[in-house]
Amino acid sequence: MYLTFGVTLVDITTKIAGIRLKNPTMLASGIMDEDAGSMQRIIECDAGAIVTKSIGLNAREGYPNPTVIELNHGILNAMGLPNPGIEQYCQEIRQLKNSKTPVIGSIYGANTREFIELGKRMEDHGVSALELNLSCPHAKSYGLEVGCDPKLVQEITSSVKEKVGIPIFVKLSPNVTNIIEIAIAAEEGNADAIVAINTVKGMKIDLELGKPILSNKIGGYSGKAIKPIGIRCVYEIAKNVDIPIVGVGGVTTGEDALEYIMAGASAVQIGSGVYYRGIDIFKKVCVEIEQLMKAYGYKKLTEIIGVAHT
Ligand SMILES: Cc1cc2nc3c(=O)[nH]c(=O)nc-3n(C[C@H](O)[C@H](O)[C@H](O)COP(=O)(O)O)c2cc1C
Repeated sequence: MYLTFGVTLVDITTKIAGIRLKNPTMLASGIMDEDAGSMQRIIECDAGAIVTKSIGLNAREGYPNPTVIELNHGILNAMGLPNPGIEQYCQEIRQLKNSKTPVIGSIYGANTREFIELGKRMEDHGVSALELNLSCPHAKSYGLEVGCDPKLVQEITSSVKEKVGIPIFVKLSPNVTNIIEIAIAAEEGNADAIVAINTVKGMKIDLELGKPILSNKIGGYSGKAIKPIGIRCVYEIAKNVDIPIVGVGGVTTGEDALEYIMAGASAVQIGSGVYYRGIDIFKKVCVEIEQLMKAYGYKKLTEIIGVAHT
């Protein structure tokens, strides 16, 4: 996308793993992406790409309510990955087949076999890339998330990569001791890009009841409050891997997006920001990026990627 300010042209196109984006904003997984209709609305609001809800092999109801709480500086959710299962969901994805905006299929599984199966099904239905959501419990490790174990991350990534022909993005959880070793494991498994970060584990207690509010007790914190955590993760990952990074966590303005890009991200995803600023947020963030680039004398977004490291 080129916008003209006086005589200055500002180029905010970007590329991730060979996929060209007209602008660096993407819809994050889990927000307004349960059906083709809502994804189409986001596409019409100028998102550069959209990521589907994380889909598993079988339908899942998710946790009972309460599942989402709005807090002062962010949103706490424990949805429990509700989704209709790959068979049903593919009907939604097929409706977006002719979309010029790239659609990225997010998948989660309890083991390597499930990730491979889901990856192949998503590819068959025409997505441009896969996003592996590793923030789900591993079948054999009693509640430990798949993405906490570098060996498992490398194994799942390389196994899916061998079986599909589309690029693979690996989405990392910040709830680990050392996110760098997980990112390196994804790169060694031949991931095409890293997406950082998923939600940060958190809890809210109801004083009257003396109990956690969420039915699952523990939830994932997202929104404005987690931006510094996301920026730090992207910065650390960019220092240690060579594949592109997509920054996510608390992006609500063009300034937030540019911080991620300067930290090393090639694009950003927006999730909770849709609640704060409405579905027009993609357009608004792009205009703000362009204004800031002009103010700081940048002409191409790609020349800003990682400048904070120099
Ligand atoms: C209600 C809700 C549902 C989410 N569902 C998913 C999901 O299905 N898969 C996934 O990888 N991330 C999911 N996420 C995490 C977001 O994609 C994103 O990583 C996180 O919210 C941080 O970005 P944000 O601050 O822009 O929301 C969800 C987040 C929220 C708030």
